[in-house]
Amino acid sequence: MCGIVGYVGGRPCRDLLVAGLEKLEYRGYDSAGISLLADGRVETVRAVGNLANLRAAAGMDGGEDGGVAVAAPPATIGLAHTRWATHGRVTEENAHPHGDCSDAIHIVLNGIVENHSELRAELTEQGHSFSSETDAEIVAHLIERNYEGDLTEAVRASFNELRGHYAFAAMHAAHPDTLVAARQECPLVIGIGEDELFIASAIPAFLAQTRRALAIENGEVVTVTAAGATVTDAAGTPVEREVQDVSWDEEAAEKGGYETFMRKEIDEQPDAVAETIADRLPSRDRVDLSELEISPEVIAGVRRIVIVACGTSYHAGLVGRYAIEQWARVPVEMDIASEYRYRNPVVGSDDLVIGITQSGETADTLAAMRLAREQGATVLALTNIMGSQATRDADAVLYTRAGLEIGVAATKTFTAQVACMYLLGLWIAQQRGTLDDERLSELISELKALPHKIQETLDSVSEQVQAVATAEHEGRFFLYLGRNIGLPVCLEGALKMKEISYIPSDAYAAGEMKHGPIALLDESTPVVCVATDSPTLDKMLSNMAEVRARGADVISIVTAGSGRAAEDSDLMIEVSRTDWVLQPIVAILPLQLLAYDVARMRGLNVDQPRNLAKTVTVE
Ligand code: F6R
Repeated sequence: MCGIVGYVGGRPCRDLLVAGLEKLEYRGYDSAGISLLADGRVETVRAVGNLANLRAAAGMDGGEDGGVAVAAPPATIGLAHTRWATHGRVTEENAHPHGDCSDAIHIVLNGIVENHSELRAELTEQGHSFSSETDAEIVAHLIERNYEGDLTEAVRASFNELRGHYAFAAMHAAHPDTLVAARQECPLVIGIGEDELFIASAIPAFLAQTRRALAIENGEVVTVTAAGATVTDAAGTPVEREVQDVSWDEEAAEKGGYETFMRKEIDEQPDAVAETIADRLPSRDRVDLSELEISPEVIAGVRRIVIVACGTSYHAGLVGRYAIEQWARVPVEMDIASEYRYRNPVVGSDDLVIGITQSGETADTLAAMRLAREQGATVLALTNIMGSQATRDADAVLYTRAGLEIGVAATKTFTAQVACMYLLGLWIAQQRGTLDDERLSELISELKALPHKIQETLDSVSEQVQAVATAEHEGRFFLYLGRNIGLPVCLEGALKMKEISYIPSDAYAAGEMKHGPIALLDESTPVVCVATDSPTLDKMLSNMAEVRARGADVISIVTAGSGRAAEDSDLMIEVSRTDWVLQPIVAILPLQLLAYDVARMRGLNVDQPRNLAKTVTVE
């Protein structure tokens, strides 16, 4: 979740741009950079690591002089960026801004350009040379190719050649008073000050300077000068857009206008998953996890996979177990880290142990990983936080790229973990040759479509979920039932409900109902049944019929268009259709929203539930 800031106006802008980046730090980043245009030249400084490194490289805070620091007169137009690596390693060369061959055009980009390899090949053939491994650099060279004196038109033409999920901003040495930006799926907003304008990926970047904002929508191009912004669509037709006054205070700004971090983070899931899968699916027939420093021989020879984690991360592991066993045919054992570490487990050199921890600091998960490593297992950490302890304690690391999660209840880190487990499952299957080519590419296409399906589901379920919350928020108990791949969704849904609404909730494998829990049911019990399409759907439908026979209300989560659960449901909530193994990543969305809405209706602080901390470092 990279960050973009741009400025054009009358003030020296280096410090304004870096201050804007500081307000976007929550999005997560591993490198940063800034380009300033002065005296007909663009100067760039980039640095790996945090913004203190960029400040030092740019000659701020009394650090060593960077080119931009000594530009005279000081630049009053520029672009800045925080990068979270997707295409290409974390290096200074791969940090943004990126330039074209003549270094006159500079761009910053947030998101993913899907057709980057075709475009790179085409541009290389035409004589363009690249200085980074990124997909973003393509955009600078495309603008160069399309430029005939009009920067807006060059950006529009380039925008129309790109596929993917991105927002970018560009400047050109020959246009020292103009920035041009475009948006497709990733956020982009313009801040309008007195004779100065800002471009940003989120309002906090310029809120200290102006409270007047103009939202840019998908498919739009915006040309920005100190005098104002002109919005056009992809065909060049002018678009009328009203400037809005932002009434948020600093805290509300951090929440991006949402009432809570949790709600904002729920809505960030399409982005979190898109960034997580991005470059790891470089084509329709291949998963690329070459970033993992685990040799193909180790993967080919693995006898067993053991997944250790706590809480929500444990549930992501459970989804991963189904995916890995289904696709790669390797036995997978799941264990709660706090149990595993104390039970003298049998583990050795032909085991791959995966520790899942979004924070990378959970004491029990770290201890379980260390123990396995001491016994000779290969240990892989799946985490959201660079440099966290888990990354130092493992043989290899796979990052989710969800951005910083502030709400205590994990939401976007969960779906990003699940996406990573799908990538791992397919990658291991690819290494071991357990899926035929057709099935592999079918699953890759489905995986690539997930960000869109997550968005579609979030948009379509919210009203129905609110209706359920209105009816049930005073309830005493929620039961969640599922089978197979639906079970981890239930466990996670019930965990969300109990931790933020404080309503007792339980999740069960539906086949276990008759062994005890059925005694809990009466007319007052809402029973959430995850009944998405799967090989066990018929069994699940029978369980739902049993529940209804006891007078309890069945709220079913079903695959869109399936209709099979209608007879056995009091209310059906449809989630987007995907391959059945991938259904959990969309099926969890109404359950996150349900817990959220119930808690809000009960007047609770969802971002900081009682007795809970975001990171559990005590044992
Ligand atoms: C629940 C939640 C916790 C964490 C658990 C593990 O919403 O956030 O259950 O999942 O404490 O944390 P990490 O993933 O940081 O190891």
